[in-house]
Amino acid sequence: MSSNIGEHGAEFLVVANRLPVDLERAEDGTQRWKHSPGGLVSALEPFLRSHSGAWIGWPGIADAEVEEFEEDGLRLHPVTLSATEVEEYYEGFSNGTLWPLYHDVVAPPAFHRKWWNAYVRVNQRFADATAKVAAHGATVWVQDYQLQLVPAMLREQRPDLRIGFFLHIPFPPVELFMQLPWRTEIIRGLLGADLVGFHRPGGAQNFLWLARRLVGLEPSRGAVGVRTRPGVVQVGDRTVRVGAFPISIDSAGLDAVARKKEVQQRAKQIREDLGNPKKILLGVDRLDYTKGIDVRLNALHELLEDGRVDPDEVVMIQLATPSRERVEHYKQMRGDIEQTVGRINGEFSRVGRPVVHYLHQSVDRQELAAFMSAADVMVVTPVRDGMNLVCKEYVACRYDLGGALVLSEFAGAAAELTSAYLVNPHDLDGVKNALHSALTVDPAEGRRRMRALRRQVLTHDVDRWARSFLEALGTQTSA
Ligand code: ADP
Ligand code: G6P
Repeated sequence: MSSNIGEHGAEFLVVANRLPVDLERAEDGTQRWKHSPGGLVSALEPFLRSHSGAWIGWPGIADAEVEEFEEDGLRLHPVTLSATEVEEYYEGFSNGTLWPLYHDVVAPPAFHRKWWNAYVRVNQRFADATAKVAAHGATVWVQDYQLQLVPAMLREQRPDLRIGFFLHIPFPPVELFMQLPWRTEIIRGLLGADLVGFHRPGGAQNFLWLARRLVGLEPSRGAVGVRTRPGVVQVGDRTVRVGAFPISIDSAGLDAVARKKEVQQRAKQIREDLGNPKKILLGVDRLDYTKGIDVRLNALHELLEDGRVDPDEVVMIQLATPSRERVEHYKQMRGDIEQTVGRINGEFSRVGRPVVHYLHQSVDRQELAAFMSAADVMVVTPVRDGMNLVCKEYVACRYDLGGALVLSEFAGAAAELTSAYLVNPHDLDGVKNALHSALTVDPAEGRRRMRALRRQVLTHDVDRWARSFLEALGTQTSA
């Protein structure tokens, strides 16, 4: 990939709803940048930083008029959203319509024309901003569900560009997607790309089916002769490739962080601070209703009630990054989870020795590696997740081959991490049994499983993911 930002614009650009850094405004009016939340930024940032380029995105708060700036070799181009757009495009259509719809309608999606109109308007703004800064013939990589109209809007203005699109969340079954009143517009938007990527082959197949059904077979909507064959959609004289590209993490980087002496010391300190319990369970998530935080808490609660887990021996830590706090389902879920934590602690804790430690906070990478190094069992139980990077991060941290991973079958990562304790999060007895097995695993069996997991995670890292996508897009990659 030729990645220089020349005087004629950037030759490699990432377009995502969020910039990799998030602007925070304190009550006294002072501002500071912090790391943006979520897996998209965790995965893409290390790759982008080692291949300088430009990143177009929203700085994370309403009405922030920020000039483009350079950070650590990356050129950042902020896109401003008004308070109403944050409400209607981001909290509304992106996170009140698409997020639940694409995650198997775990929560009911809401369909509002006002939200859709804002989504169209903001997607156009992202496309315009990109068209302005991209060099002739540049490669543009559009990310995720918030920007599905950008590929076609961008192609309209800049047919010279090479455009890739990657969806970081699951692409839903066709029956669910068909609920969307603007389903054809979304498929047309995505078909503006030269390559459309998903985590799983099932997502790619669903998309191909919808492209044929919604764009190819509805002449009344102005079809342009769409044909599909495996992995390819022919749109007039343009070929759109479609495929699965399972995302990953900077495995070697995190492995190196976990090996640091100070991280291992901190892990020891965490265990001591917890009163040296025999076993530590850990959950790390954005506070999102898809993550199944309630599932693991309910399983632990019943194991304690059944006497299969001793509250004097086992401690659970749940780190939960605040997320989308003004969206209704998120408010509700936070209340429910905090109540369950309170109930478990009320019934089973002793003074100075809570069973569940719940931190509604984000921690930095080093601290995260220390928590993961300290945890005997990592519990990842989403009811639906595109990939889930947390489970891969845990594996990358366990160079000592210690620890056990309990992982939902409904996370994309389950297809790769088959040596984990795989569970159906809807089957509470199954989750309880898997937790119990992970807590009591024979050390040799635990090491065998972790060795197999590490083989997968260390050989399939984010660099390999990005290269395979960009190569399929026809872009040369070079460090
Ligand atoms: P999602 O993108 O839906 O949030 P992922 O598991 O793919 O889910 O990615 C989440 C990312 O956010 C991971 O890199 C994870 O380490 C990070 N993360 C989640 N919760 C926390 C937390 N409390 N503190 C620090 N990092 C967190
Ligand atoms: C997931 C999505 C990302 C999103 C992240 C954090 O990883 O796929 O697109 O950025 O969650 O969510 P937020 O709404 O805070 O950007």
